Amino acid sequence: MDLIVRNAALSTGEQGVDIACKDGKIAAIEPNLKAESPVSLDAEGQLVVPPFVDSHFHMDATLSLGRPRLNGSGTLLEGISLWNELKPIQSVEDIYQRAMQYCDLAVAQGLLAVRTHVDICDDELKGVDALTQVKKDVAPYLDLQLVAFPQDGFYRSPSARANLLRALDKGVEVVGGIPHFERTMGQGDESVKELCEIAAERGLRVDMHCDESDDPHSRHIEALALHTQRLGLQGRVAGSHLTSMHSMDNYYVSKLLPLIAEAQVSAIPNPLINITLQGRHNTYPKIRGLTRVRELRDQGIDVAFGSDCVMDPWYSLGRADMLEVASMGLHVGQLTSRSDMAWCLEAVTTNPAKILGLEGYGIAVGNYADMLLLQADDPVEAMRLKPARLQVIRRGEVIASTPRQVSALNLPNRGSALDISKTKPVLRH
Ligand code: FE2
Repeated sequence: MDLIVRNAALSTGEQGVDIACKDGKIAAIEPNLKAESPVSLDAEGQLVVPPFVDSHFHMDATLSLGRPRLNGSGTLLEGISLWNELKPIQSVEDIYQRAMQYCDLAVAQGLLAVRTHVDICDDELKGVDALTQVKKDVAPYLDLQLVAFPQDGFYRSPSARANLLRALDKGVEVVGGIPHFERTMGQGDESVKELCEIAAERGLRVDMHCDESDDPHSRHIEALALHTQRLGLQGRVAGSHLTSMHSMDNYYVSKLLPLIAEAQVSAIPNPLINITLQGRHNTYPKIRGLTRVRELRDQGIDVAFGSDCVMDPWYSLGRADMLEVASMGLHVGQLTSRSDMAWCLEAVTTNPAKILGLEGYGIAVGNYADMLLLQADDPVEAMRLKPARLQVIRRGEVIASTPRQVSALNLPNRGSALDISKTKPVLRH
């Protein structure tokens, strides 16, 4: 064996297992494994999970916060116009350097697969050139999937169609869209139709920014489900954001959800960003703008939480921490039962891995030896603590590690050290 993690807990509830890695794959998972290896890590009974997966990000914009100015209103639309001020003055090298810096941060946080939308409404395709290079350069340690994203509208931006096709020719592998940003509802639905046809013709997946709006009549997800089914794209299409569903009439949603399920379209809400962007036209009560996560999931629809933005024109904060993203989803979606909280961990690991079509993913014999050791005992504790990623393992090698968070105490008649993951009640189920 090349590496063994001993005495680990798994999300399934199994405890005290040893995980052996050989030639980049998981070779065995069993208690008290009789095997030798040059590297042995003691999990001390804590949780091993597969790496985090971010199914929705904008890597061409990340870390550009403040260039050329800050977003004064905090709205989605000012973010888009600010991004349009930055696009002509940034270089391929700028985008490349920021993206590589972000990937370093992602690896430290155990985030080893990212689907990023890349804006193709720039005739030079600077974002495409930068991120296709980043994809090659990070491939040994991070899986990057690129979506051709017509930020200014597939029809509204005169060169978007030609640019999108050029981007696909350059190796961008997913077709994006933004139907709610087209000039009319009709054009929005038409863009969904044409973009799905392009994907079907080329055998590609689809991931559209869909109905990122508070307008309850923004119903392009309906067209996305229809064309997915019509073109035989089931299981290969995702609707991102879907925030208008928050404001829709319940009767209409009762018809819509089965259509999405039937077409096997998955859903990617982005709770960290949309809780700040939505509801800006309300006074009080103020809508939350998160799509109907529980109801989508309970229809059997695959749901993953995406992070969307980190330090860019739309969001000033963020740190590539998918547990922070999932925690916001948990709170805003009121997913507070123990099983719901554990599901939130799946929404940033196994669910997005399925949506991206990642192969060999998960803690099972024969899969890639990609895993994280967390300073937490179980999935609910991972959600509560957003703990240190003690070891980040890719293909059986440690590629990042972080010291255990232990505080030294200097108090009369108390212990001298406090491990944050050990301060908790004993639960009796
Ligand atoms: Fe987005």
